[in-house]
Amino acid sequence: MKVITTKSELRSSLQSSRTDRKRIGFVPTMGYLHEGHISLVKQAKLECDIVVMSIFVNPLQFGPNEDLNRYPRDFERDCELAKKAGVDYLFHPDVSEMYPSQSLTYVRVGQITEKLCGASRPGHFDGVATVVTKLFQIVQPDRAYFGLKDAQQVAVIEQMVLDLDIPVTIVPCEIVRESDGLALSSRNVFLTPEQHQQALILSKSLQMAKDKLASHLFESTDQVSQFVIQQIQTQSLAEIDYVDTLQYPSLESPNSLTDDLLIAVAVRFGSTRLIDNVLVRHNNKEC
Ligand code: PAF
Repeated sequence: MKVITTKSELRSSLQSSRTDRKRIGFVPTMGYLHEGHISLVKQAKLECDIVVMSIFVNPLQFGPNEDLNRYPRDFERDCELAKKAGVDYLFHPDVSEMYPSQSLTYVRVGQITEKLCGASRPGHFDGVATVVTKLFQIVQPDRAYFGLKDAQQVAVIEQMVLDLDIPVTIVPCEIVRESDGLALSSRNVFLTPEQHQQALILSKSLQMAKDKLASHLFESTDQVSQFVIQQIQTQSLAEIDYVDTLQYPSLESPNSLTDDLLIAVAVRFGSTRLIDNVLVRHNNKEC
């Protein structure tokens, strides 16, 4: 595995692969890798000849009062994990390499960024869309892999790629969970044992809602969200940011319980904000 810190070196390293018509898979991350990231690499290795991973904690997607400075980082450990997983190139630029001058250009995806995390974290998806566009320009991958834990992020990036004619196939990958059901996240490291225990309500309540939907026990999508809210409120340390049930991937208000639905939650446990979701596909694809 080659570690690369500059855009120019990465571009020239990938040139020969491109000339040889090798298929380039890309896994963008902010590091502090866990099994969720590794599952993206595994998928990329199945489908591509070369796998590029980026590790860059992107300041542009953090609000002024968010956790940019305390976002967990451990580059040495990340290197070992990435190498073991079979990453070929690890791109690890610093902030001045990615943003050498003050940016006057941003990428903003409309509408689907106004709900869920977009509503709670103003500007967050502008930061994501901008850095992902830049990374796509630098790496020029054939396929790019994103976890569905950030289902809204996947929808935003798919829309962006469509709107801007970026020639990359977005591959959404299933959420990876701990054996107790907690969705893997770099931020889980901040949970105390008690918070971790209480946070299990997220996956449990989402799964229960999905099962009840399948058994036709809800009359409206509002009832679905209300059910999840009631379950989460049984945990004393949980502070709900949002719980919502929306059409996926448009994130519009559902017309019926038979739409493809995303049930999404964001909940704080102490200073740690966790997100989780389930997708309920009625057009035969299950996630
Ligand atoms: O999902 C993430 O880790 C980040 O939002 C991403 C896609 C790497 C952009 O910074």
